[in-house]
Amino acid sequence: MAYTFTQYQESADRIKEKIGSFVPKVAMVLGSGLGFLGDIVEDPIAIPYGEIPHFKASTAPGHKGQLVFGTLAGKNVAVMQGRMHHYEGYEYDEVSYAVRVLRLLGCDTLIVTNAAGCVRTDWQAGDLMLITDQIKMFSESPLRGANLPEFGVRFPDASHLYTPRLQQIARETAADMFITLREGVYFYCYGPQYETPAEIRAVRILGGDAVGMSTAPEAIAAGHCGMEILGFTLLSNMAAGILDQPLSEKEVLDAAEAAKDKFSRLVLGCLRKI
Ligand code: HPA
Repeated sequence: MAYTFTQYQESADRIKEKIGSFVPKVAMVLGSGLGFLGDIVEDPIAIPYGEIPHFKASTAPGHKGQLVFGTLAGKNVAVMQGRMHHYEGYEYDEVSYAVRVLRLLGCDTLIVTNAAGCVRTDWQAGDLMLITDQIKMFSESPLRGANLPEFGVRFPDASHLYTPRLQQIARETAADMFITLREGVYFYCYGPQYETPAEIRAVRILGGDAVGMSTAPEAIAAGHCGMEILGFTLLSNMAAGILDQPLSEKEVLDAAEAAKDKFSRLVLGCLRKI
């Protein structure tokens, strides 16, 4: 289904009734392992997705399904605890719906995090990667359908989807914290099956460094409506076929848990500086 601008406004208006004069500046869409940052927001106002018109539920394990407004690292934030994925059965405009609503509420920056498979054989599971670019060529765009000019143009430029200025802040923050930060291209595969070894070889040839099932749709929608974007990936496992062992959700969640401290320090450090 395609949403109308009025629907986005209705969602934003309902949220405004709850948050009053609070204006969020940074939208945060947090993947496996970092959802807890929503729990440490100061002066929090939590709104379950079910209470917001046109919002969808989030069914992925470990995703709470609420928006938390408040301050984090001195910034006014809107934290999405739980994102929507295409593999859950949502269309891409449903997956990215909240990003546009948060834009209407005042957010001009998007921080996205995810767990993904590591395509590079010279990197390791547990490493963190700064997303410098993305590839989402083999599935529809969240912008498909009538363009809503209130958000942006029909054919938006994506040459710097992940904002160079924010990438530089991330590099400096990681260096200050002695955190090794890889840099690379996030290759979107919609899942929910993990990739085959042949698909991973194809991803590598095509220029992907990490492979995952989220983030790219939200980034496209955020770029369209003029938001600055900072993205991080936790390389939770070596991608299919690199090691002679099956991939499992448990491996991903265990890696996310293990990286929680390092990952959250980096994200909060960047948030403080942007
Ligand atoms: N592939 C796709 N998505 C993922 C992976 C993976 O290996 N790990 C975590 N999310």
